Amino acid sequence: MTALPLDLLPDSATVRPDGGLEIGGLDVVDLAGEFGTPLFVYDEDHLRARCQEAVSAFPDGASYATKAFTCMAMVRLAHEEGMSLDVSTGGEIQVALAAGAPAEDLVFHGNNKSVSELEMALAAGVGRIVVDSFAEIDRLESVVSGGAMAPKVLIRVNPGVEAHTHEYLQTGVEDSKFGLSTVDGSARAAYERLEKSTAVELAGLHVHVGSQVFDVGSFRNVVAELGPLVRDLRPEEFSIGGGLGVAYVEGEQAPTITEWGRAVHSAAEEAGIEAHIMAEPGRAIVAAAAVTLYSAGTIKEIPSIRTYVSVDGGMSDNPRPVLYGSGYEVFLPRSTDSERAMPVRVVGKHCESGDVLVRDGHLPSSLEQGDIVATPVTGAYGHSMGSNYNMVLRPPVVFVKNGDARLVIRRETYDDLLTRDLAVLDAVD
Ligand SMILES: Cc1ncc(COP(=O)(O)O)c(C=O)c1O
Repeated sequence: MTALPLDLLPDSATVRPDGGLEIGGLDVVDLAGEFGTPLFVYDEDHLRARCQEAVSAFPDGASYATKAFTCMAMVRLAHEEGMSLDVSTGGEIQVALAAGAPAEDLVFHGNNKSVSELEMALAAGVGRIVVDSFAEIDRLESVVSGGAMAPKVLIRVNPGVEAHTHEYLQTGVEDSKFGLSTVDGSARAAYERLEKSTAVELAGLHVHVGSQVFDVGSFRNVVAELGPLVRDLRPEEFSIGGGLGVAYVEGEQAPTITEWGRAVHSAAEEAGIEAHIMAEPGRAIVAAAAVTLYSAGTIKEIPSIRTYVSVDGGMSDNPRPVLYGSGYEVFLPRSTDSERAMPVRVVGKHCESGDVLVRDGHLPSSLEQGDIVATPVTGAYGHSMGSNYNMVLRPPVVFVKNGDARLVIRRETYDDLLTRDLAVLDAVD
């Protein structure tokens, strides 16, 4: 096995002649010493560059899908770079507003928005609500008739098209909980209903076919598929959603955000779509911006089978390998460009055999207990999908830039774990 492919590292990453890795001008092993492990390290310049790329690829409107990774610093950064914010729950709305994002720049998604979430969105003045079903249209209309101003809405349509990605990441197929079908006429019926509604202002159509899609042809197909409907209904706005894939492991190739934008715009032009074209990338903005640092603990060699390297995190900071069987690389940041000759399985500290971070990885044979090991491309759907399983503390996040490290999410504490736990012992007779 070869050394780590350096193109999987964040933009500002450099490898010193001694093999040591720096990101944002800071030694990564020193960062682990300063902030402890596990630790998420995000390259701020990388994040800003991807936001800028998205804004120029989709000049009519680019939203950052906060579900990929959110905290107030990230919301502020994306907004400073000109992006709106895609939010899908009351919690994501609250973080975006607390960060100072104007409510007008929020796009509210979700297949099951509650009445209280809709009320929250309306009271704040959220810019756009993407309605997902007739039940939700009913809910929204009843909330609006309670006195709120008519919100701008888009209709999430489901084109019944397969995108090339993991089954769990496909959202545009007919058998899906998301959206109103274009196949059975529900999408058109919803459009015609909302055109006449006085409770909402109909702004357009929205589609999101899936996530981790490598082939821009999948997006072109969706646009072509929806062309006749969009030409006919003539919405003001048409959002292609998110879903652009990123390379996680050696040998994978993903289109750039610029290539994605070009493909979507040319497909829209060919389909005769005149609407403003918007998009909402999440993964493509944040995934490759981060690495996760762990400390190697127990190294268990099972002769003729494999070597297990246990680290101090696991499925609670990166559930993607467990959820989707996703692959990751692993390397030693003290020796970034070394050959990784030793086959390893990197596992977490949770009480699950399935708690795997890197199923078939390789590390240099100089690996020792106490070494800092790193997994690249962990900026999306890691921290945000994390959990407290086994009451493991959620890791901190630092943003690094020009030799400075800014702690943007602190490490969880044992006191944090107890804050919601109401002691009931006194109530037991
Ligand atoms: C409606 C919607 N928009 C945008 C995204 C972001 O997708 P990605 O992170 O793959 O770009 C998602 C992700 O599931 C989504 O559901």
